[in-house]
Amino acid sequence: MVAEQYDATPYVPERGGLQALREGAAGCEGCPLYRAATQTVFGDGRASARVVLVGEQPGDQEDRQGRPFVGPAGGVLTRALDEAGIDPAGAYVTNAVKHFKFEQAARGKRRIHKAPSLREVGACRPWLAAELRVIDPEVVVALGATAGKSLLGSSFRVGEQRGVAVPMPSLDGDGGGHGMLVPTIHPSAVLRADDAERAAAYAGLVSDLKVAARLLK
Ligand code: URA
Ligand code: SF4
Repeated sequence: MVAEQYDATPYVPERGGLQALREGAAGCEGCPLYRAATQTVFGDGRASARVVLVGEQPGDQEDRQGRPFVGPAGGVLTRALDEAGIDPAGAYVTNAVKHFKFEQAARGKRRIHKAPSLREVGACRPWLAAELRVIDPEVVVALGATAGKSLLGSSFRVGEQRGVAVPMPSLDGDGGGHGMLVPTIHPSAVLRADDAERAAAYAGLVSDLKVAARLLK
């Protein structure tokens, strides 16, 4: 039996800007994640943004509201960007995967985040590639392992590669390969850290974001 192909490519419009991409993504069925989620959570920001921040996938709040990083991780990210000297309002924020993947809690209505598989990340990559092609930013920040794997390949290790700028690889043969890429931890890792480690985790995030800020000077 041949494994079913997961791929967003047939849904990605060949022409048009961010609005055309957003409309196309709203109907994406490139992998099974659209079935249980409320809606596609596409990137947010302007095509003229100089910096693009790439997270993992929408969380519970993002799935309900239809916008990336509007929940607790978004709060940490906004504060850290500000502190690093990057205007959060001028950045474009998006995710490696555009639908929320979750498991229903055994009791109650809580939806528990599940990490997307490499197959799902690969399926959704054409949307990220298309966003980066339209925006062509000077700096891309990969927030956490999933974004890093989507942008740099499955051998990416956040612990080893964070805080070091590398040339942005081309994601689709025709562009996107300009500018620099800075990997760092995911802001939710700050929220998950023990009380004793939270301040250091946050300081590490800010320090990595300052690497990106210097590239934008
Ligand atoms: N975590 C992410 O990776 N992205 C969001 O949009 C929200 C939380
Ligand atoms: Fe399409 Fe990505 Fe959603 Fe999968 S997660 S259905 S590839 S938009």
